[in-house]
Amino acid sequence: MVNPFTLTLQASDALGIQNAYLFLLLAFTTGPVFLLLGFLRDPTMLFSLKRAKNAAFSGMWKHISGPIDERYARFKAPLLKEASGVVLDLGSGLGPNLKYFDASKITRLILVEPNPGMHEGLRASARKAGFAKDQFEIVPCGAEERAKVEELTGLGKGSVDCVVSVLALCGIPDSRHVIAALYEYIKPGGRFIYFEHVASKDSATRKQQEFMTPYWRSLFNGCCLNRPTDQFILECYPWSEKQTYTCDFETQKCLDVKSYGWARKPRTTGSTTGRDTTGLSYADVVKES
Ligand SMILES: C[S@@+](CC[C@H](N)C(=O)[O-])C[C@H]1O[C@@H](n2cnc3c(N)ncnc32)[C@H](O)[C@@H]1O
Repeated sequence: MVNPFTLTLQASDALGIQNAYLFLLLAFTTGPVFLLLGFLRDPTMLFSLKRAKNAAFSGMWKHISGPIDERYARFKAPLLKEASGVVLDLGSGLGPNLKYFDASKITRLILVEPNPGMHEGLRASARKAGFAKDQFEIVPCGAEERAKVEELTGLGKGSVDCVVSVLALCGIPDSRHVIAALYEYIKPGGRFIYFEHVASKDSATRKQQEFMTPYWRSLFNGCCLNRPTDQFILECYPWSEKQTYTCDFETQKCLDVKSYGWARKPRTTGSTTGRDTTGLSYADVVKES
């Protein structure tokens, strides 16, 4: 069967229409169907809005994940193959990115994914990507639930070699606090690798993102089009090196313009005074959470 989301991407490219508009329309029309399918599979969802939303999103994401992955594969592959050691992958979804990792370089893969509807697919993707059963683990809670993440994984300051976030920080509540915690988890010399859609630097496009975000967020599991995640990562903290890129076929006029790259934590510890664009320091962000 032809995937409607693949067709949507092809149609938007051919017609020169922003794919965000067509995705919004498609999600609006198919969302209730995925919700209904979720209820039919498990009628007790009627009593939990959160579970119903999770089921609807994982049902829809099974169709979207593949086409999105294919579109950005050539940008993600070289980026993610650099991950090594203890790796924390944020919002792993169905695990389309795990195949880009070099499993032989990763000693422990921590997959933070709160939606149980993703877990079966995620486990299958990890095995398919060459990860042994005892090499990876799924952490079934939100990344913002820091105490729970630490209890389940034993993670603490300076315990992770590499944090990876692909299209995840756009939908995580209070993502700045999560980034602050992630920075702490990274070992000196470790890396933060990201591939995210971000707030546009074009003011007219940014206004459209602001307008569309409430609708987008309700259909795509809290995802915000207007979040400057790249700035939150790159400008908030003291990194010793950073590289940032955009996809060659996207401009700042694109409503879901991507930014991707990596940043390395200084090898010497104790440097925690970076300031972000709003003037908040690392310590302030942590204090707030
Ligand atoms: C847009 S999907 C991206 C999935 C995957 N990274 C990919 O590239 O296909 C965002 C994922 O983040 C997960 N997510 C949502 N809230 C989260 C949270 N608070 N903490 C961690 N992950 C979260 C969602 O369940 C979903 O699987």
